[in-house]
Amino acid sequence: MNARISTLRIERMTGAMGARVYGVDLRQPLDEQQREAILRAFDEHLLLTFHEQEALSPEEHMAFSENFGPHQDLPHIPLVDGYPKLQKVFAAASHVKGQVAGQNWHSDSSFLPAPPMAVAMRAVELPEFGGDTAFVNMQLVYESLSPALQQMLDGMKAVHSATRLFGAASKERAVQVNMREKIEEGVGDREQLHPVVRTHPRTGRKGLFVNRVYTQRFEGWTAEESAPLLAYLYSLFDKPEFGLRAQWHTNMMLMWDNRFTQHRAIFDYSGQRRLLVRTTIQGEVPA
Ligand code: SIN
Repeated sequence: MNARISTLRIERMTGAMGARVYGVDLRQPLDEQQREAILRAFDEHLLLTFHEQEALSPEEHMAFSENFGPHQDLPHIPLVDGYPKLQKVFAAASHVKGQVAGQNWHSDSSFLPAPPMAVAMRAVELPEFGGDTAFVNMQLVYESLSPALQQMLDGMKAVHSATRLFGAASKERAVQVNMREKIEEGVGDREQLHPVVRTHPRTGRKGLFVNRVYTQRFEGWTAEESAPLLAYLYSLFDKPEFGLRAQWHTNMMLMWDNRFTQHRAIFDYSGQRRLLVRTTIQGEVPA
């Protein structure tokens, strides 16, 4: 066996999802066997944390991410100066409740025709305490439903748009978002149809693909008709059996599957700063 592969150690984090990866130095290029072993673990666990790392340069972070697919630009996430492929998740000490990004369960940018496959994020500056990120496994959520409800949802599509974040509705509510100037006119109001249940292109497992931030209604249903069923599905995301809470450490890299998990930022560190840097990996059209 390849010596570098034999040093790779993968430990499950919870019964629901996630694994810790040891024995790989992310500053070095991955060889094909390492890349494939990491990808297989990612298919299975949907979230990986890489430990015992040194600080990565922006170039090393981007090179790691490109092992798994090309970069995907997201119009509403601020960038690290000088690095158009590095996105910034920042909360200043002056941030108050309700003002940090990502506090509701969501899958990033599901209003796009081909939303991201994955995000690779590392912490640069952490509060003394708090600032974890919660994740939920959408394959487990789907598998927990009764066969009849699964069958109904399997044949349905949902309408997604970014209206609540930065479309007309957000303008009315004057929500503060970090929108870059280059955002296309009207992107916040555009509607996108996606299957309610999507299938993993490598493993064939199904996952529920609706979220609180971007899903507006089921196709052919009114928003009022959709709301009770969506509310029931969303209520399942809070079951601890379906997810995990990731604690950040400086230099730890965390990569999550954005198609089959959802996440939310936990803002329990008011008065402190938090800076994370991320790359986004292009996803396929959901099917
Ligand atoms: C995000 O939603 O991308 C950010 C999550 C976090 O800040 O923990």
